[in-house]
Amino acid sequence: MYNEIDLDKIDITLGPPAKEPARQYYFIARCREWVRDFEQRNGRVPNSCVTTFGCQMNARDSEKLEGVLKQAGFAAEPDERKADFVIFNTCTVRENANQRLYGRLGQLGRSRKRNPDMKIALCGCMMQEAGVLEKLKKSYSFVSLVFGTHNIYKFPELLSACLDSDRMVIDVWEDTDQIVEDIPSERKFSFKSGVNIMTGCNNFCSYCIVPYVRGRERSRRPEDILREIKSLAADGVVEVMLLGQNVNSYGKTLEDPITFAQLLTEIERIDGLERIRFMTSHPKDLSDELIQVMGSSQKICRHLHLPVQSGSTRILERMNRRYTKEQYLELTEKIRRAVPDISLTTDIIVGFPGETEEDFQETLDIVRRVRYDAVFTFQYSKRSGTPAAVMDGQVAPEVVKDRFDRLLSEVQSISAEVCSVHTGSVQEVLVESVNDHDPSLLTGRMSNNLLVHFPGDASLIGKLYSVRLKECRGFYYLGEGGQIIS
Ligand code: SAH
Ligand code: SF4
Ligand code: F3S
Repeated sequence: MYNEIDLDKIDITLGPPAKEPARQYYFIARCREWVRDFEQRNGRVPNSCVTTFGCQMNARDSEKLEGVLKQAGFAAEPDERKADFVIFNTCTVRENANQRLYGRLGQLGRSRKRNPDMKIALCGCMMQEAGVLEKLKKSYSFVSLVFGTHNIYKFPELLSACLDSDRMVIDVWEDTDQIVEDIPSERKFSFKSGVNIMTGCNNFCSYCIVPYVRGRERSRRPEDILREIKSLAADGVVEVMLLGQNVNSYGKTLEDPITFAQLLTEIERIDGLERIRFMTSHPKDLSDELIQVMGSSQKICRHLHLPVQSGSTRILERMNRRYTKEQYLELTEKIRRAVPDISLTTDIIVGFPGETEEDFQETLDIVRRVRYDAVFTFQYSKRSGTPAAVMDGQVAPEVVKDRFDRLLSEVQSISAEVCSVHTGSVQEVLVESVNDHDPSLLTGRMSNNLLVHFPGDASLIGKLYSVRLKECRGFYYLGEGGQIIS
């Protein structure tokens, strides 16, 4: 695998090979030369800071950026103002994500005045959006490197070009049909990891920019996914999170099609792996086969994130979600019959164009009926280029805000009740970290995704541990230990 390649054996006086990923190893070796040079000139190694916005896909991509930077010899620096190389991995799902990015970039541009050699790079979803590149060239010309979502595997090559140049290096592709395997990555946790199983999205929900910035849906080959998870498990990883915009349609476009349920069955067999999570599931593609596999699995966690977006069938149709309120409710009942203790979570958009008070009442109704463990609530944000941006009936901001507040108070009181039902029980948690606020406590995650804080020492991190849940504090528990399960 990539991580096992001996970079010192690569002769950088020869030209770069044409084949991937060998070409990228070559450029990592070249970046290493640059780093050595820097060290000689400055008496220290250069440092880098990777800042991530957006979803878990971006978080996983950032681990790849960090992996490349580490192999090239950069030291990690958490404070972007002090770094020699800063990269922002951007998100553009809502308008305020873009505004935040420009704000951060402006600030960094000012601190760059103190370190004019600082290189600033931008990548990710926002770079794929029309108009962004022009704005960067015009108003943020101090940026050194810009690339998009389709060519992230080329980061070593682009990094090398940027380190050797004083001009803005730009490489943004419209789309791609390639998935390059074996890019080095630097995992945040030793015991759990995200694993991409597919990229892109074909659903074109009418409000959503993701299909435009992440391109068409492509599944990785099952053998590549299994190989990656086996090697993670051999390396001590006990929990994986399978990632895709719509994991339920995994495998449909492969040469030898396979279903997501079949993939899960294969992953379940991997020794050493104890927990399997996945996100996100689109309700329209959630099959009976998957429900059955979830019901019989020993490793799939008791948690399903199933975005509903709205409770009104009329609005769901305008959103192009391709299910009705009734179909969604039937689906959740079927899942609860197969997996009675499952925790359900969802995403809801308030104020979609044309949403009336009656439509909003339907959303409140579905929330009361499903009784979610957690709901991620969003105010509709107009994304230009999407069909919803030009729809009639854009809802006034004060109406959106009022509905948002009413929804939030409803979901908060329901989820506090739903979450507290486990009080007094003994649960298995995966111990993730020492508590931020109180170092005598550890934080573990239950199968249903709730967090528990309990006394213990750091040697338990990465272990499965049984904890008694003493007290529910709304969205988390205080617990007492316990014993090691594995
Ligand atoms: N693929 C996932 C969602 C990815 S985006 C899925 O289909 O479930 C995460 C969430 O952001 C979405 O579920 C939606 O609730 C929200 N979202 C997407 N576009 C939005 C927009 N234009 N305005 C407000 N929220 C939006
Ligand atoms: Fe966006 Fe819909 Fe695709 Fe999710 S399924 S990424 S909401 S278009
Ligand atoms: Fe944002 Fe891109 Fe994820 S737009 S939500 S980072 S796929």
